[in-house]
Amino acid sequence: MRDVAIIGIGMTRFGELWEESLRDLLVEAALKAAADAGVDRVDSMYVGCMSSGLFVEQEHLASLAADFLGMGPIPATRVESACASGGLALRSAFIEVASGLSDLVLAVGVEKMTDVSGEVCTAALAAAADQEYESFHGVTFPGLYAMIARAHMERYGTTCEQLAAVAVKNHANGALNPLAQFRNRITVEDVLSSIMVADPLHVLDCSPVSDGAAAAILCPLTLARKLSKKPVVRIAGVGHATDSLALYRRPDLTRLRAVERSAHLALGMAKREPSEVDLAEVHDCFTIAEICVIEEVGLVPRGQGADAARSGLTARGGKIPVNVSGGLKSKGHPVGATGMAQIYELVTQLRGDAGERQVKDARIGLAQNTGGSGGSSVVHVLEVC
Ligand code: COA
Repeated sequence: MRDVAIIGIGMTRFGELWEESLRDLLVEAALKAAADAGVDRVDSMYVGCMSSGLFVEQEHLASLAADFLGMGPIPATRVESACASGGLALRSAFIEVASGLSDLVLAVGVEKMTDVSGEVCTAALAAAADQEYESFHGVTFPGLYAMIARAHMERYGTTCEQLAAVAVKNHANGALNPLAQFRNRITVEDVLSSIMVADPLHVLDCSPVSDGAAAAILCPLTLARKLSKKPVVRIAGVGHATDSLALYRRPDLTRLRAVERSAHLALGMAKREPSEVDLAEVHDCFTIAEICVIEEVGLVPRGQGADAARSGLTARGGKIPVNVSGGLKSKGHPVGATGMAQIYELVTQLRGDAGERQVKDARIGLAQNTGGSGGSSVVHVLEVC
């Protein structure tokens, strides 16, 4: 297997982008990545998108993307794993380069969610839960994560204030990110007094509905050293795992087993311990999700995730900065794009290009991208070399 590096990254701003279509977003992110890499062709591409059919009635997206990028007739493949579709696109591109099949491969994640009503959007998202046993009965993603939050509160004494501290931290980070959807700082009181969506999750505990895209171009490490004028970022570890979609099939609601397994695989491949990670971008679709994920990845001991944001441990200047981009909560969560946006942030940080939100001496970054309520997870470990 060949060593693989990322030589180009690109991202649109995230938000309610009325003036841009699904293909506009995808093309913008991909062309920015190509410009950053200094290439105008790739050998192959992967598009991560959760549900362009339900959101904008467009399928057959990968061929459309290759055509509008002017890169046809290259092979183009769409991959889907709910909100982990972006992470899966990167993993697929990694495998193609590592295997020697292709030298230059584009991975792009995209979603356009705001062209439909809130009701239609919620139903489209719920299609990533177990249709027969969950969605059919009316449960939505805020509802599923609320059940996880209640279980965590019962087991570990987690409080609403600790959940709120995650949103406060991520909004403070997002305020420094010019591509973020929400750039306003909030307080614990703002979160606790915001409207209740699914008890105990308030609206400010939730990631928003968003449009956006992010992309990266991969090549063999040897080629990256020749082509790139910027610090070279290597994909040192890749992990992917699955779990039951339906919560009732899991023995313990506080656990996200696919996250634990995928992190274990990625860190093992990179030959790294969680304690060596300098910063992490993790899937905070709801505040409770960040708490559970940092426990599963091993960034904090199990049961101690709840206080990590409140205590400052996961702050930008803390011992292990988490979601310095603003995370899904503040940066936005165009579901299929999220995994690639995490990679965009890590590469920016590892190159030392993150400006005001730069993490000092960042050399090893971890990205964790969850599908649904934990039915899938993809983890990447990136290292500057
Ligand atoms: N965080 C902060 N502000 C939010 C927000 C969020 N998550 N969601 C909406 N807002 C703001 C909007 O910007 C808007 O502000 P404005 O009045 O100043 O323009 C206001 O709240 C009302 O927005 P609206 O779109 O009407 O909200 P909504 O009630 O329809 O949607 C949620 C709120 C929480 C239901 C929606 O954001 C949601 O479904 N989030 C979860 C998405 C999800 O499940 N993703 C997949 C995860 S697995």
